Amino acid sequence: MQEQSAASFRGRTCVVTGGLGFIGSNLALRLARDGASVTVVDALHPRHGGNRVNLEGEAGDAIRVVEADLGAPESLAAMAGAEVVFNLAGQVSHVDSMTRPLFDLDVNTRSHVAMLEGLRNDNPDAVVVFTSTRQLFGKPRYLPVDEEHPVAPVDVNGITKHASEQFHLLYGETYGLRCSVVRLTNVYGPRQRLRDDFQGFLPIFVRRALLGERRGCAGRARATGRGGRPSGHGCCGTTSGRPRPRRCARAPRPPSAGDGSAGRAGRAG
Ligand SMILES: NC(=O)c1ccc[n+]([C@@H]2O[C@H](COP(=O)([O-])OP(=O)(O)OC[C@H]3O[C@@H](n4cnc5c(N)ncnc54)[C@H](O)[C@@H]3O)[C@@H](O)[C@H]2O)c1
Repeated sequence: MQEQSAASFRGRTCVVTGGLGFIGSNLALRLARDGASVTVVDALHPRHGGNRVNLEGEAGDAIRVVEADLGAPESLAAMAGAEVVFNLAGQVSHVDSMTRPLFDLDVNTRSHVAMLEGLRNDNPDAVVVFTSTRQLFGKPRYLPVDEEHPVAPVDVNGITKHASEQFHLLYGETYGLRCSVVRLTNVYGPRQRLRDDFQGFLPIFVRRALLGERRGCAGRARATGRGGRPSGHGCCGTTSGRPRPRRCARAPRPPSAGDGSAGRAGRAG
């Protein structure tokens, strides 16, 4: 976060959903350190990255924690007074999305619609920042992938995150919520869950490196760089053991910078 933008949160009321998880806890701590009033909403799903330890420490003591689904009444009550909602709650695992698709649909889409409904009714002036994933582009048709690239998810997680993106943008267009969508690529850093293989390939690599193990994922693990040829799983952030669903040949309309779609600043104030 740039110094200037961090300062602009001083004294503001912020909610961070998924704020006990990896990215959310780092954001919540930074906001609290910069003088924002921060509430974290997190359901602490056992296979996700959430952990109360992530908020331990001086800045964390000032953060209020609501342990609940983001669509639950107590979460909506916390959001009713928020100026900014950083909506980071979600299931990251592409593998788990294939083995438990209904759970993924619940936590990555249904809950977000419940949250948006709550904001529409109780806090229509809120600024909402939703973190989506570049996974919804699927296997790259060209590199580097840009905002014009077709959306063609290859797993349930890509579909549910894309649906949630669209709900955020729809509520922005229709009800005036100031929603933006950010598509993240593979993120790594402090407070990331490393102890098991639930969170994708980067934590696996980092853990094995820390333990002095030489091998990464089992099976193919080809990397591609800028301008390199797209390769199987090297591009998609999942281990090579994940199920490989068939993809519909008719991809949805690609997002573009001019249509209020994802990956740009949107209308956040
Ligand atoms: N980590 C990455 O590389 C990456 C890449 C692309 C997108 N993202 C997105 O960024 C966001 C944060 O990812 P992360 O790596 O910090 O994950 P994480 O698993 O560390 O944290 C997510 C947190 O959200 C909570 N959660 C999930 N569904 C919830 C719900 N319905 N209600 C309340 N809490 C819920 C979990 O309990 C967890 O603590 C996610 O939305 C994810 O899709 C992450």
